[in-house]
Amino acid sequence: MGLEFIYTQPVKIFFGAGKFEDLGAILKELGLRRCVAVCDPFLRPVISDMAERSSAIVAVYSDIRPNPQLSGAAAVAALIREREADGVIGVGGGSTLDTAKFAAAIACKGGEALDYFRGSLVFPLDHVPVVTVPTTAGTGSEVTQVSVMSCGSEKKTINHPAFMPKAAIVDPLLTRSVPPRTTMNTGLDALAHALEGWWSRNHQPISDLMAVEAVRLVLENLEAAWRDGSDLEARTNMSLAALLGGLAFALPKTAGSHACSYPLSEDYGLPHGEACAFTLDSFVRINADARLETLCKRAGLSGTEELAERIAALKQLGGLRTRLAELGEVDLDKLAHDSAVHPLMKNNPVPMDEAALRRMFERLA
Ligand SMILES: [Fe+2]
Repeated sequence: MGLEFIYTQPVKIFFGAGKFEDLGAILKELGLRRCVAVCDPFLRPVISDMAERSSAIVAVYSDIRPNPQLSGAAAVAALIREREADGVIGVGGGSTLDTAKFAAAIACKGGEALDYFRGSLVFPLDHVPVVTVPTTAGTGSEVTQVSVMSCGSEKKTINHPAFMPKAAIVDPLLTRSVPPRTTMNTGLDALAHALEGWWSRNHQPISDLMAVEAVRLVLENLEAAWRDGSDLEARTNMSLAALLGGLAFALPKTAGSHACSYPLSEDYGLPHGEACAFTLDSFVRINADARLETLCKRAGLSGTEELAERIAALKQLGGLRTRLAELGEVDLDKLAHDSAVHPLMKNNPVPMDEAALRRMFERLA
């Protein structure tokens, strides 16, 4: 069969240093007059100040934690209804953007957030428009229809068109205060998105182009952004890498490394990027084939082995955990099983069953 694919990307993207200052004009352009702003706790003073000066922000919600809880999304949805808001602005890391997206998706139709989370209520396609403003360079959540949400210890990655933002404002200036460790974690998450979008079984040519450029940008800029957070050129290139990484996996979805990241985060507390990076070089070697060689060459590398080594070196540089021995007492059977049954594992180009994953993790002992 010949080449066949469907490509769509509905998010209007405003990119550039200082773009966040144009928020008022951008909201006006989008026709949004009464927005609820959802932000990271440390941003509350800045956003509250903006709300005081602009009638376009009618409420601010900032009770966001690293693994965003469903109760937060439910509270934001209630706020949207109560203030009769016509838009939501999410300003922060992935947790904040995912909370804003989930809340906006359930606000119109009403109903319990838990019923949507469990799947007994279907997300309506009609949702409150969301403007995403990422303050880290990694998750790509600003341009995807993914929301990672937790209810107690149950964590789900929900993929639904109702979560698609209307617009994204990507302002590299907002990432300058991100500490080095988070810079490394989130940067490697962006790299994982690009690589997994490329090698996902659902890969397609337009997403592939963005994957190549995202890989190249991360490898050329992540170390510089990690060493000096005020390096605006490195920060700008990492914001672009994260955006392109998001676009690279938005349609193909991620694969093995992300599948393994969920038990690593849930059971051993690894932050998302660190959890993805934990197995990323292993999967580069497992998934090594002629196609991956092509990506490496296009991204300026000698081949897959160099790619795996560069990932390992970045992890070491950033002080990330790379061995199971660093995670405390590990239940290898459960880790291999939970990774194997994660739906994203089906996208891995090399089929990985529980036994194969156990062997991979044993090599990371
Ligand atoms: Fe990710």
